[in-house]
Amino acid sequence: MITKYVYGNPIETEAVVQNVPNTSEKMPYFEVAEDHCTFQTHLAEDDIVYGLGEQVRGMNKRGWKYKSCNFDNPNHEEDTMSLYGAHNFLLVSGQKTFGVFFDYAGMMTFDIGYTAHDLMTVTAEDGNLKVYLITGASEDVIVHQFRTLIGRSYIAPKWAFGYGQSRWGYQSEEDIRQVAAKHQAAGIGLDSIYLDIDYMERYKDFTVDNTRFPDLKQLQSDMMAQGIHLVPIIDAGVKIEEGYSVYEEGVAGNYFCKDADGNDFVGAVWPGRVHFPDFMKPETRRWFGDKYAVLLDMGIDGFWNDMNEPAIFYTEKRLESVMQRINELSKQNMGVDTFFEFKGLVEGISNNIEDYSTFYHDMNGKKVVHHKVHNLYGYQMTRAASEAFDRLSEDKRILMFSRASYIGAHRYGGIWQGDNKSWWSHLLMNLQMLPALNMAGFVFNGADTGGFGCDTTEDLVMRWLQLSVFTPLMRNHSAMGTREQELYQFGNMADTKKMIEIRYGLIPYIYSEYMKAVLQDTMMYRPLSFVYRTDAAAREVEDQLLLGDEVMIAPVYRQNANGRYVYLPEEMMLVRMRGLDDIETEILPKGHHYVQAKLHELVFFIRHGKKIPLCRAAQNTEALDTVHMQYLGWETADYALYEDDGVSKDYDIEKHIRMC
Ligand code: GLC
Repeated sequence: MITKYVYGNPIETEAVVQNVPNTSEKMPYFEVAEDHCTFQTHLAEDDIVYGLGEQVRGMNKRGWKYKSCNFDNPNHEEDTMSLYGAHNFLLVSGQKTFGVFFDYAGMMTFDIGYTAHDLMTVTAEDGNLKVYLITGASEDVIVHQFRTLIGRSYIAPKWAFGYGQSRWGYQSEEDIRQVAAKHQAAGIGLDSIYLDIDYMERYKDFTVDNTRFPDLKQLQSDMMAQGIHLVPIIDAGVKIEEGYSVYEEGVAGNYFCKDADGNDFVGAVWPGRVHFPDFMKPETRRWFGDKYAVLLDMGIDGFWNDMNEPAIFYTEKRLESVMQRINELSKQNMGVDTFFEFKGLVEGISNNIEDYSTFYHDMNGKKVVHHKVHNLYGYQMTRAASEAFDRLSEDKRILMFSRASYIGAHRYGGIWQGDNKSWWSHLLMNLQMLPALNMAGFVFNGADTGGFGCDTTEDLVMRWLQLSVFTPLMRNHSAMGTREQELYQFGNMADTKKMIEIRYGLIPYIYSEYMKAVLQDTMMYRPLSFVYRTDAAAREVEDQLLLGDEVMIAPVYRQNANGRYVYLPEEMMLVRMRGLDDIETEILPKGHHYVQAKLHELVFFIRHGKKIPLCRAAQNTEALDTVHMQYLGWETADYALYEDDGVSKDYDIEKHIRMC
């Protein structure tokens, strides 16, 4: 059952698609403060709090405080409070089990047993919000209702499930051709190469640098001939430059966010000074969305939207005042106070929350300060793109995923988990985010495999692949200046190549589970406790996940480990794969096990009485043979395989399910 409580006069987020009547009754579970800014509930000792989508820490969010504020933070660690998405859905599981969605466009804090272990306090900056309370017989039922409430998740083309190679720093057409050729030469399957900001002319959206990329259309068609899709990045900020048509149209059409004086607001990102499109305005969305046509017309059929929190390197005003103060400080003998002031000034230039109060949107003719709708910005940028794709590519799916997001954006695109690091802790965090993202509707997602920031290591890449073989987006991406991490950069390429073969072998299953989760409003990844609800040990597991109804994954996420402890809540089949032709299986009883998993071995589990399909590897998804498949698991089991052409928009589940 879903109950809706409306407090004050909320800003419409369009997160929800169902019409739920308001109730004037008192909300159960929560103490609501008179000004409706604070919502407090008691947590019993064993209650688990799931949710919050893209956030730090474990699956059980208890014990920390979080802030919903789309934030560009590549250096996130355990004490971080905000990442790139704002997903205000929580699911309390335990003595009382319920879901709750705080539909609020601004910033909120979630103190989940931080101030006091048995209290959860959710605080909005003002008392204007909608709260949806969802009750049901189980966690699955609650999530299903919530997902139905927020509408069907975005559907990616099937090729987006193939392996993707990306790096910030592929400088030219030649670099791209080499990446393709090297994968080809090594026999490593590849469906996509991502174009980072380097392809643009001085970081201007919808332009191509024609010295370094003299003929992108030709490059695209040469790549397509090899089954490789080029996926360019689009950033939120539009460079201020006379003669640049996007800038000029934006000014003329009144499409940009305004400052307090009503002038187009100036911030700075990659290209230097930019204006930010006011994506809250339907006219801006339409205008900006139509710009993608310049790339679509070249045959490009996938994009990633970035820097749309929006990330701001600096604003003119802040820069000026910081420079002035630094100038004063530079004339002093800086001691403890002044030196730290100086450091703070420099560190605080970028993505400064105060700057979000210095520009404005036009929402249905009303001037709204950005701060109040901050978390909707990336969402509306993704919507701009996605609605344009519906107009410009009526029959064919276009890949779209974004960095910033809010619930609602899940209908328009997927997300990647933003800038992570080549850290083992981020590999685990990647796994722990998956169920929470699914709850919030983001079924198409994946993290930068191998890690984005800092130098990776060969073993980390290998272990990360062993998680990413199961996530919808499997993209190797890294930052400029870090160690190159294409799979052919490492000595034991034979083994990494086999992981990619395994990925291709698993695509029929992964795609099928993805489509079923999207079309049936269910989760692709679930914590063990959702299924083994009364099993106390299963409820504590933080590093294993159920995938669909068939698989349990338990990747190794520690350096130099040759295995790990795994908890089996029932008898399961251990599958050990060293390649598609080197598979061992073994039935293990319920209980705790130490399971060996050497660096080159992918180990996972099939639930009792289930089976999964596995096909032969291919150089790309297009070439996969899904007719002649083998099955892993219990022979007598049935598997309901969802299969469609992967590009068109006919998603009739009845038509596309076949029993295997
Ligand atoms: C941002 C993105 C990252 C990209 C970089 C350069 O940091 O999150 O993926 O490589 O910008 O465009």
